[in-house]
Amino acid sequence: MNLLNITDLKPKQIRKIIEKSLDFKKGFKTESLKGKNVVLLFEKPSLRTKLGFFKAINILGGLPIYFGPEEIGMGKREPIKDISKVVSRMADIAILRTYSHSTIEEFSNYSNIPVINALSDLEHPCQALGDLLTIYEATSLDFKDIKITFIGDGNNVARSLSHAILSLGGEFIICTPEGYGFDETHITKIKQLENKYGGKFHIESSPEESVKNSNIIYTDVWASMGQEKEIAERKIIFKNFQVNEKLLSLSQEALFMHDLPAHPGEEISENLLEHPQSIVFEQAENRVWSQVSLLNQIFLI
Ligand code: NVA
Repeated sequence: MNLLNITDLKPKQIRKIIEKSLDFKKGFKTESLKGKNVVLLFEKPSLRTKLGFFKAINILGGLPIYFGPEEIGMGKREPIKDISKVVSRMADIAILRTYSHSTIEEFSNYSNIPVINALSDLEHPCQALGDLLTIYEATSLDFKDIKITFIGDGNNVARSLSHAILSLGGEFIICTPEGYGFDETHITKIKQLENKYGGKFHIESSPEESVKNSNIIYTDVWASMGQEKEIAERKIIFKNFQVNEKLLSLSQEALFMHDLPAHPGEEISENLLEHPQSIVFEQAENRVWSQVSLLNQIFLI
């Protein structure tokens, strides 16, 4: 199977990946990737996703083969179709980090091995899996009882996480400046998930209101990779959407999450990653365990 969007996984498959992640974290061992080559084609920088996948592949006995941004030239040095056909003949799994989501879609159209989205401009499904694992571990609540408030830019991380929690019957609140929330296509998908699985979705404009009764307060950078030129303008537009100590104090039971890298002074205040309500570094580590579990099941789902 491919994992391009988080909704490529059925709710029961998501739950299974999370459950099994915990087993791996407790030391469960299997060499399900023994003799298999896992190619990573990355157009953008990466720390957690890359290291998490290298470690995961290592745990499962496979061989990671990494191509960085300067090597691939996807669609420039060589057509995406040709790269995909060659990779299918030499590797067993392809993991891609791309600027445009259409690149990974085109790659998967010509591939006959599983393709995993390791972040595109549209989605970050592997982050969502790690986040669900972290939320499950930290709260011990069923996902249908979880309320996530996402403050900031309605970006790739927010899209995947919203779909993930709504697929599991939970609640997702997005609090963004006007024009930076989800587009119509995404809202339509969310409405379908709400109707199908009984979760709830709200749009809020006040960070103070949005965090009330939340289990999780989540934020991400105001300008994602590829949007660096917009940062000066975005710093003005997003200035009232910073997650800081004062905001966390309005919801003291809530846990704080950020997918990293963070920009203190922008989307978070200084030292917020070390705040007692923060579970950011557990969240970072869990990228390994959710990715081990995903890779272990990729040929079965
Ligand atoms: N939204 C961020 C996530 C980084 C892991 C980006 O796309 O740059």
